[in-house]
Order: sequence, then C-alpha cells, then structure tokens
Amino acid sequence: MNNKEFWEDKEKDIIFQANKLNIIESCVDRHAKKNPNKLAFVFEFENKSIKKYTYKELEKEVNQFANYLNSLKIKKNSRIFLFLPKLPEMYIAFLAVIKQGSIAVPLFEAFQSEGLDLRLQRGDADVLITNKELTKRLSKEVKKKIKTLKNIIIIDDQDFKKKLEKQKTEFKAVLKNKKDTAFMIFTSSTAGTPIAGIQIPHYALIQQHFTAKLVLDLKQKDNYWCTAHPGWITGAVYGILAPLSIGCTNFILEAHFDAKKWIEFLKRNKISVMYTAPTALRMLKPEIKKEDFKGIRNIASVGEALTSSVFDFYKNLGIEINDSYWQTETGALMISNTPLMKKKSGSMGKPLPGINATIKDGMIIIKKSWPAMMTGIYKHEKMYKEYFNKKWFKTNDLARIDNEGYFFFEARKDDMIKSSGERISPIEIESILMKHKAVKETAVIGIPDEIKGQIIKAFIVLNKGFEETNQLKEELMSFVKQNYAGHSYPKQIQFIKEFPKTNSGKIIKMELKNLK
Ligand code: PRX
Repeated sequence: MNNKEFWEDKEKDIIFQANKLNIIESCVDRHAKKNPNKLAFVFEFENKSIKKYTYKELEKEVNQFANYLNSLKIKKNSRIFLFLPKLPEMYIAFLAVIKQGSIAVPLFEAFQSEGLDLRLQRGDADVLITNKELTKRLSKEVKKKIKTLKNIIIIDDQDFKKKLEKQKTEFKAVLKNKKDTAFMIFTSSTAGTPIAGIQIPHYALIQQHFTAKLVLDLKQKDNYWCTAHPGWITGAVYGILAPLSIGCTNFILEAHFDAKKWIEFLKRNKISVMYTAPTALRMLKPEIKKEDFKGIRNIASVGEALTSSVFDFYKNLGIEINDSYWQTETGALMISNTPLMKKKSGSMGKPLPGINATIKDGMIIIKKSWPAMMTGIYKHEKMYKEYFNKKWFKTNDLARIDNEGYFFFEARKDDMIKSSGERISPIEIESILMKHKAVKETAVIGIPDEIKGQIIKAFIVLNKGFEETNQLKEELMSFVKQNYAGHSYPKQIQFIKEFPKTNSGKIIKMELKNLK
C-alpha cells in the first residue's frame, strides 16, 4: 500500500458525505448520538470550581453558538479569531466556528496590544471572540486599523449570554471540501514576515485522528490531559480535535504551571494519557515521584528536544516518555515514538506510517503531501512556496538518523527561538524593542536554558543620551511584556557599543552568541 492508499484507507475513521465533510460531525455529533452521556470536557478553573460537559451537552452548546453566529449574519469562511484563556467558551466557540463553515483562529491569551493587533490585522479578522478582561488589550483604533472587523463578541457580557441561551439547540454542520481551511494558527517565522497564519484543512483530521490513536494511544475510556493552550497548534489539534474525534474525556486546567498543582491534578482526575512539553517535564522533576504515575499509561512530549537527561529521569521512575516531532505547518505528528516502539534516549523516534521523511544536507525533509499538511499561509503565497523543493517539504530542522532509522534532533537551521516549547520570532521582538526611544539598534537571539530550553536575549545599541543602566534594562523588558506578550520577553539584555556586521551591513547573529 503506498502512502496515498494508506491515507485513503484512514478516511473510514472520519465522517464523509459524498466526498465532503465537516470535522465537527466526527468530533462532536457522532459521539453525542452514540455516547451522549460520556464526558467530553472537564474544566478546572483558577478558583478550583469545576464544569463538566457530556458530548450531548457539548453538541448543544456548540450548536447554539453556531446559530448565534448565523444570527449575526456572519458569512461562511469568515476568519473568526478567538482570544480567550482555557475557558469552556474557547473550546465551544472553536468548534462552533468550524461547524458554521467559518475558519477558527485561536490566539494565545498572553498577547498584549501590539502582538494582538498585528495578528488580527495580518489575518483580516472578521470577528473577534473574547472577554471583558482581554478586550482591554485591544488598541483604541483597532476597528479603524482592521477594516474587516465587524463583530466583537464578549462572552461574559449579559446581553450576549441571554441571546445565546435563546438560540436553537439544533444545527446542521456546513459541509466543506477536503482542502477547505478549518482553522488557522498564527505562528512565528524567520523568513518574509515574522508572523503569519498557517492554514490547516478539514481533511487533516484523518491524520490527526490516526496519530492520536497510534502515538498518544488514546481510547474512549481515557482521561486525557493536553497541557497546551488552543492558540498553539498542539492545543488546537491534540487538545481539541483529535481527542474529541476519538471520543475520550478531556481534562483542562485553567491555571498556569505549578508543579504541585499539576501533580495533584494528574492524580485527582486519574489522568491516563498526557501530552505536554519537555519544559514542563523538567519543571516537574523536583516534585514528582514514582507513585504519582500509578494511573498513567502514556506520556508524550513535543515542541522542543526531550533531552536524554529528562528521558532517563522519567525512565528511572518507570515511565518512558514518547517524544514526538511535528510543526504547525505539518498539521499533525510526523516523526515520533509510539508506546509499542523500542525507545532510544534522546531520539524523537521514526517517521510515522504514511510519512516519508529523510535528511538532506542535515535537514529533515518530508515527501509531500500528507492529509494534514498546511494548504497555504494566509496572504503569503511566496513564503508558502519557499517551504517546498519540488516534491519535498523543508522543515528547517537539523537532525541525524542512526543506523536503525531513529531521528535525533540537533538544532534549528534558522534563528527561530523556542522557549518553553513556544515558538518566537526574533524579528517580532526586535521590532517591538525598536519602538522604544532608547533603542538605536537591536538583535534578539535564543540562548540555552536548563529549564526552558532557550530564553530570549536582546543585544541593544542605545541612542545618544541614554545610559546603560539596570533600570533601563528593566524598563525595556517590561516594554516588551506590555506591548507584545507576557510570556516572551527578553529575560536577558546586554548593551553593546556596536554590532558585528557583514559587508552588506547585516548583523552577524552567530557572533553574538559568543559575545561576553
Ligand atoms: O524546531 C522544531 C521544534 O518545534 C518546531 C515547531 O514548532 P511549532 O510549529 O510551534 O509546533 C510545536 C508543536 C508541534 C519544530 O520545527 N520541535 C517540535 N517538536 C520537537 C521539536 N524539537 C525537538 N524535538 C521535538 N520533539
């Protein structure tokens, strides 16, 4: 069976209607019919209260939200941005937008006004779904700046709530073509533009479902916890769509990382499968004990290298972590370990069935195409084309393969930063810093960090009249936090007099790494 036939065979796991589909029929509707009382979501909020949704209840709320969108006359294929914490409305609206035939664009909650505006602008947002607290981050001129933005839905507004309650609880999913975009994830790049919307089609679910079964080993009976926010690809794919398609119960913890709370959450909810990032696994190390894993069948990790030391630490506690590799652009898992596979410390495993990946000039390349592969980058056709060399997709990740076919991650080929598994474009941080009156020139790089993999470091040449003080460093750090995002600001700043440059005047970032 060739790869094409392989994926065609996997179509049987997903609902099609005469070659068309809407993935929400597979993710929600089919389980609401067959298994109405099965829990789909269990949310635990910051204040410790809990809210549960069965598949039937989830279907009802998704339908009411989709009907509400129609009541606003929101056309199909609208780009509907979701800017919310890990609240039920984030998940319900994500599903409702896709069911209504539009494109869901989830955003991480930490973005501040510049980061937020840029994404809404780049994505020609038609609608924004957010809450009272987060709307404060929108700039005053947002509606002027973003001409397409017609509706802002505030989920904790009383009027909205009343209208939502009155909506009908039935909604027929709008059928789409396989390659139609279901959702779009804004991600950072180091080429062309620092930030652009990666389009993932409905058809991707074939592969997302299959890989959730194979790599995460997800079954309906599982209590599953994906720790990523839906604004990142992992949170959208393996935190919403794939596990719902399988029909298991998803546990969501609203609170941010805290080792003790996480371990309690694992035990209290009898989590059997967990998908997380190496940074979290490193941060859990001082607290976690063998008995905490009693109920766990599988832990998989993604987003950054799972180093040997982390893998070995957990192996000694009796659990072999399944390191997995993919990208926003690939739309689903590509290279991975699986629970049944022999694992090698420090290796991210082998190409999954249906995937043909190899290494050329040190870089991982993947034979196109596969069901979840991005179908485009919104308004950046040229950038999209640059990902391909004839029949091959270029990942920009450097790796090696051993004689048994295991892949070992080495580094990024470009200077994209990965901190706590989150992808950060140095260009985006540089452009924020340049807006500060003290900054004449800046270059941002990632430097190794024992816990977070990398942290952001900014080198800065100051304008005349500004002094190189610690106070100014603090000010510049909060400037990025306040304008761009609380989660990704330079934790280190170094003032320098002059940048090392090429003859053409380009800063040589490689040399900065060695600057003392
Ligand atoms: O550099 C690779 C790294 O994360 C990048 C993709 O980031 P993003 O699009 O945010 O998606 C993250 C989750 C799918 C890759 O190009 N990366 C991802 N997984 C691994 C990894 N680096 C090392 N080991 C991994 N397992």
